[in-house]
Amino acid sequence: ACQPLIDRFCRTVSYLRVSVTDRCDFRCTYCMAERMHFLPRRDLLSLEELDRLCSGFVELGVRKLRVTGGEPLVRRDVMQFFRAMSRHLDTGALHELTLTTNGSQLARHAADLAALGVRRVNVSLDTLNPEKFAALTRRGQLAPVLDGIAAARRAGLRVKINTVALKGFNEDELFDLVGWCGAEGHDLTFIEVMPMGESPVEERLDQFWPLGDLRARLAERFTLTDLAETTGGPARYMRVEQTGQKIGLITPLSHNFCESCNRVRLSCTGELFTCLGQEGASDLRSVLRAGDDPAALEAAIRAGIGLKPAGHDFDYTRRTVSGALSRRMNHTGG
Ligand code: GTP
Ligand code: 5AD
Ligand code: SF4
Repeated sequence: ACQPLIDRFCRTVSYLRVSVTDRCDFRCTYCMAERMHFLPRRDLLSLEELDRLCSGFVELGVRKLRVTGGEPLVRRDVMQFFRAMSRHLDTGALHELTLTTNGSQLARHAADLAALGVRRVNVSLDTLNPEKFAALTRRGQLAPVLDGIAAARRAGLRVKINTVALKGFNEDELFDLVGWCGAEGHDLTFIEVMPMGESPVEERLDQFWPLGDLRARLAERFTLTDLAETTGGPARYMRVEQTGQKIGLITPLSHNFCESCNRVRLSCTGELFTCLGQEGASDLRSVLRAGDDPAALEAAIRAGIGLKPAGHDFDYTRRTVSGALSRRMNHTGG
């Protein structure tokens, strides 16, 4: 349409992450409590509201849309949402439509996702050990996730594995994970555990495995070359010279990448979060529910973008987290 979305710090917002549900069939310890209370259906955006809202963002210059959750594939009408968004791929307005998933339902949906124009998926996988997988996810099983990943590849999707680096949990699997992804041809990204989710912040602090240490461990066995290119996300990549594979590091704690941030998030209730590490949000659901008024929606979106802060303030060195992160990962999709 018109002016792109630009914030107070001259960053252009072109990447929208939208959480379509707070529900999940897993209960990963760093994300959820054992017993969860999920939101009532009426609080969630309907399919029609999601379509209007995301289409509004695309008109304002969003070029990359990532569907998240909770687990996006547990929402019953999620494939209708992908179908609705795929029309923006057809017009060229949207360049990439993708999702982040735990993989449990991926086998069922992989072919349909590919047919709707999805080219790659990010799958969360923190361990290749079935017992450890069951313990970390509390309700998940490894085998269906591996089936889902295989189905995605058969459907022609590229797969990126997201592994949260957890001290004392998957340190011992570093080379197994790297080797498996290399052999299977998956991209791999490690993520520093962030002080959010339902379990106590202390637990996150104790699990924190700085990725500089992880990189040093890899460098003992492999020759690593830092790469300049990115996928537009926060990961910085390096190449393993011995195998040719690429490994990404997402280091929100030890290296802050806020100055180049291009993204905002929509929670499953239609709140616009402009920073993963800050609580502030604006309510877009009430604007949607007040009626179908594209001008009012555009004004509300622009006002929300205007509130995007310079950066987050996680700080593990002081063992403090300012701006209380009661906000849960499953509402905003990570
Ligand atoms: P691609 O680069 O397109 O593959 O996507 P991505 O890595 O941004 O998406 P993905 O959903 O795989 O993100 C992985 C994790 O990175 C998220 O769940 C967060 O834990 C972390 N992350 C993503 N974006 C941000 C961000 O803006 N700030 C911070 N602090 N962490 C982020
Ligand atoms: N810290 C870092 N990553 C997290 N994820 C979920 N909770 C946390 C956390 N507290 C990851 C998931 C998934 C992605 C969407 O976010 O494992 O890969
Ligand atoms: Fe579900 Fe992802 Fe949270 Fe695990 S991290 S409980 S898979 S939303």
